[in-house]
Amino acid sequence: MKLTVVGGGSTYTPELIDGFARLRDTLPVEELVLVDPAAERLELVGGLAHRIFARQGHPGRIVTTSDLDAGVEGADAVLLQLRVGGQAAREQDETWPLECGCVGQETTGAGGLAKALRTVPVVLDIAERVRRTNPDAWIIDFTNPVGIVTRALLQAGHKAVGLCNVAIGFQRKFAGLLGVSPADVHLDHVGLNHLTWETGVRLGGPTGEDVLPRLLAEHGGTVAEDLRLPRTLVERLGVVPSYYLRYFYAHDEVVRELRTKPSRAAEVAEMERRLLAMYGDPALDEKPELLAKRGGAYYSEAAVDLAAALLGGGGSPYQVVNTHNRGTLPFLPDDAVIEVQAAVGAKGPAPLPVPSVDPLHAGLVANVTAYEDLALDAALRGGRDRVFRALLAHPLVGQYALADALTDQLIAHNREHLAWA
Ligand code: G6P
Ligand code: MN
Repeated sequence: MKLTVVGGGSTYTPELIDGFARLRDTLPVEELVLVDPAAERLELVGGLAHRIFARQGHPGRIVTTSDLDAGVEGADAVLLQLRVGGQAAREQDETWPLECGCVGQETTGAGGLAKALRTVPVVLDIAERVRRTNPDAWIIDFTNPVGIVTRALLQAGHKAVGLCNVAIGFQRKFAGLLGVSPADVHLDHVGLNHLTWETGVRLGGPTGEDVLPRLLAEHGGTVAEDLRLPRTLVERLGVVPSYYLRYFYAHDEVVRELRTKPSRAAEVAEMERRLLAMYGDPALDEKPELLAKRGGAYYSEAAVDLAAALLGGGGSPYQVVNTHNRGTLPFLPDDAVIEVQAAVGAKGPAPLPVPSVDPLHAGLVANVTAYEDLALDAALRGGRDRVFRALLAHPLVGQYALADALTDQLIAHNREHLAWA
């Protein structure tokens, strides 16, 4: 089996390599290709990748290249984990919206739209080249904003599935609190990427006993603390929102906070400098502790599981993925991309039925779906007016003067990445 990682020079890659090494029975990778235009990073990350495989006695071959076409040739699956413009562009996304009183975040709100506009054309170009050399390969998209990027890929007819680690993070957290094995925890997970709620926590499988009420009664304090939301709010919701919901439920509070501290991009950039220096140390042959401070915990487990299921070799039968709605949430169009539990096999994901969604969540999901539709239109066709329409539709923007101001900022800060601007 051959797997290619586009954005393989990412500091996240050792997390992935560690997963491939540990979980080689689930996913027997024979060849792993790391593709990245940044040759220097690739050398550092590739070096550590070799040492991790060697230490764990993994027989697979690791290849590094800056040649995308050569890298994807013959791959069974291609993982996309790139970041157009790097942390510098992310820093912008997290900063200029704050000047307008809006949340500055890399996937939520105006910053997320900027990221979508920069990313969609690049990812579509990569996917096209994958399809040309390798029409049967699965594309696993971890590139944010995952909902919009996956929708772009599926709309262009690619064999793509979107992946995020929020659900697996909750699964591991809840398993720990409940004292059971993660594989026994099945989440009723509903919404859009980075806009989800855990509406049930079942033991043993998709129809197992729902222990969410017990979990909240016994551990509601811990759960709420992690989300940085009041326990009373989580209790009143009766479900567990993802931490991205804080940008909605506590928007103004978050804006005040973000204005007083360095951006996450700046923090991450500093961490990346330290990580890359460590990766260059020939004595290091495992993923360093520091990597755990990045947001991608359990990403490797989720990626291995998904690739294994798609390539027909095992993996968990039910996984949370981003895929076409196809009637699962009846209040959304069929081609909307939702994030839910799905049965995953060689034919791709088939969403499990979702019980009726509380209007409290459904309203936001419908609203953000409409925004994502307009965001994709702006990413594909460009133009100031399309950017404005997407922002006007966003529940965290909504007013025309604000949407106009954000549109101007977005274009001014992203000109070099936008062919039409
Ligand atoms: C979580 C999200 C990812 C996001 C990451 C950011 O893992 O699910 O989509 O990329 O956080 O982490 P970072 O360490 O870059 O802030
Ligand atoms: Mn994510």
